[in-house]
Amino acid sequence: MSWFPQDFEACRLPAEEYMQLEAPGTEIAPGVTVERRGLFKIGGAAAALLLASPLLRGQEKVKKAAQKAGSGKISMAEFVAEAEPLAKELVDADEPNEDAYLMHLASLLCKLDNAPAFEGRGGERPVQMSRNHRSPHFAVMQIKMAEGSSLPFHDHYEYNGVILGLEGAVKVRSFEMVGEELRPGRDEKFEIRETATATLTKGRLSTLSRTRDNIHDLRGGEGGGRVLDIFTFFPDNGGSKYMEVEDEPVDAERKVYKASWRSRGR
Ligand SMILES: [Fe+2]
Repeated sequence: MSWFPQDFEACRLPAEEYMQLEAPGTEIAPGVTVERRGLFKIGGAAAALLLASPLLRGQEKVKKAAQKAGSGKISMAEFVAEAEPLAKELVDADEPNEDAYLMHLASLLCKLDNAPAFEGRGGERPVQMSRNHRSPHFAVMQIKMAEGSSLPFHDHYEYNGVILGLEGAVKVRSFEMVGEELRPGRDEKFEIRETATATLTKGRLSTLSRTRDNIHDLRGGEGGGRVLDIFTFFPDNGGSKYMEVEDEPVDAERKVYKASWRSRGR
């Protein structure tokens, strides 16, 4: 099982020094002579045999995969077709590797040709959402934010996500829980640590796992902005809760803030 982009597989090929075992001049196979370090001189029939070897076929595959990874575009339908089975694989795994999965989705999104049209039904609301795809474990949606609008601090309990900037600018402040408890009690004060800030313009990405950077605050940047969200839901009842976060950190050096859940709504 692998969630790595195909081009990352190239990293698994043995380094050249491990492939050079014989001294120059040695005939390592009928018609195959080591010419100098790292190079083979291959005779007629042997060349055909070597080209048919699993190793070389594997290298050819890697080369093709790398070419594919470095160029070309995919449609949203192609993205969903590739990503959705991986989402199912992730949530069913005994030891899910969320970061590898999220990086794979991010890699695929770099090739996305065009996002689907935005079909929000929010009228003139400053924050509008449009759902493009939904299955039990996987969702694709868009959020359009007017300049200065906000989706204030909230968590993503039992789900992860990749956010891709589509147009304009959306500012993201990312945080994560301090300690192991992801959903402290309703009346408890708890601590969150700021981990990253980013302005998502077209083509820029932000990711969050169930533990890493799982909390964020979104603001519409200058002129507003639109982002594409890819969410993967684990079987436990996932969802988001809004929280209040104190303006001043309790530990400025570690960027730790006190927070508490909002009692209702936003
Ligand atoms: Fe969010």
